[in-house]
This record gives sequence, C-alpha cells and structure tokens, in this order.
Amino acid sequence: MNSRVILITGGNGGLGQAAARAFLCESPENSVWLGVRARRQRAEALCGEFSERCHYVELDVTRPEAWRTAVERVVGESHRLDVLVNNAGNHHDGLLATLPPRAWQEVLATNLEAAFHGARRSCRR
Ligand SMILES: NC(=O)c1ccc[n+]([C@@H]2O[C@H](COP(=O)([O-])OP(=O)(O)OC[C@H]3O[C@@H](n4cnc5c(N)ncnc54)[C@H](OP(=O)(O)O)[C@@H]3O)[C@@H](O)[C@H]2O)c1
Repeated sequence: MNSRVILITGGNGGLGQAAARAFLCESPENSVWLGVRARRQRAEALCGEFSERCHYVELDVTRPEAWRTAVERVVGESHRLDVLVNNAGNHHDGLLATLPPRAWQEVLATNLEAAFHGARRSCRR
C-alpha cells in the first residue's frame, strides 16, 4: 500500500484540486497538503471531505520564506514530505509590445523561479 505525503501548490485551483483528489483516492494512506494563497474555498471543502489526511497551508510560491515556513509545517506535522507538485501558476495574456515588464516578472517568478525555490527547500529540510 502506498503511503505518501504530498504538497500541491495552487491547491485551490482547478488542476490542484484534481491532483489532490487523485492522490487522496490513490491510497487511503496518502496525506495531501494544499498550498493556498488568496483563495481557499475549494481547499477548505476538500479538507472537510478528507478531514484526517487533507490540510491546507499558506504558501505564496514566489516567497522563499513562505516556502520555508510551509515545508517546516508539513514535515513537523506529517513527519516527511515525499512528493512536491509545483502546480501554482499564472499568466498575463496580451501583446508583447504593451505587456508591462512587471507582469512578465510576475509570470517568471510564479511559473519558473517558484519551482526552484520549492524543490530546493523540499530537498534541504
Ligand atoms: N487548466 C489547463 O488546461 C492548463 C493547461 C496547461 C497549463 N496549465 C497551468 O497549470 C497551472 C494550474 O492551472 P489551473 O487550471 O488549475 O489554474 P487555476 O485554477 O487558475 O489555479 C491556479 C492556482 O495557482 C495559484 N497561484 C497563482 N499564483 C500563486 C502564487 N504566487 N503563490 C501561490 N499560489 C499561486 C492560484 O491561487 P489563487 O487562487 O489564490 O490566486 C490558484 O490556486 C497553471 O500554471 C496553468 O497555467 C493549466
């Protein structure tokens, strides 16, 4: 029987919810942590449905300090972290000529740099 502790960023979003449910249904031994930022209604609902083994944790993936705090909490309560799903992401669609550099930086920070911060912190704990 599989027994894994899984952290999924963007855990309130569509794909995050689907991945969480897949892990929770894969094995009754799996525990899932949902990283949430601004919205959390769906994360709260899933935690209510699987109250023993689904939890949410504050995690803005662009902030290395938030990664440290979140991973410490996961490992502190679940004693390990086996799987990190770097799912959180965003996009700013628009014309390149008019796309503000700040929007471009936000996309890079969320979709690219966050994967580095998360993987690094998860390996270092
Ligand atoms: N759905 C698709 O068909 C598809 C296809 C290809 C790629 N993708 C990519 O897969 C990822 C998830 O897609 P989705 O459809 O599930 O999108 P979604 O429903 O919009 O969910 C995105 C999630 O990412 C979170 N997020 C954004 N910035 C964050 C940050 N700085 N820190 C922490 N969380 C952050 C959002 O949190 P808040 O709600 O709190 O902002 C939300 O929970 C995205 O990167 C998307 O671009 C999706």
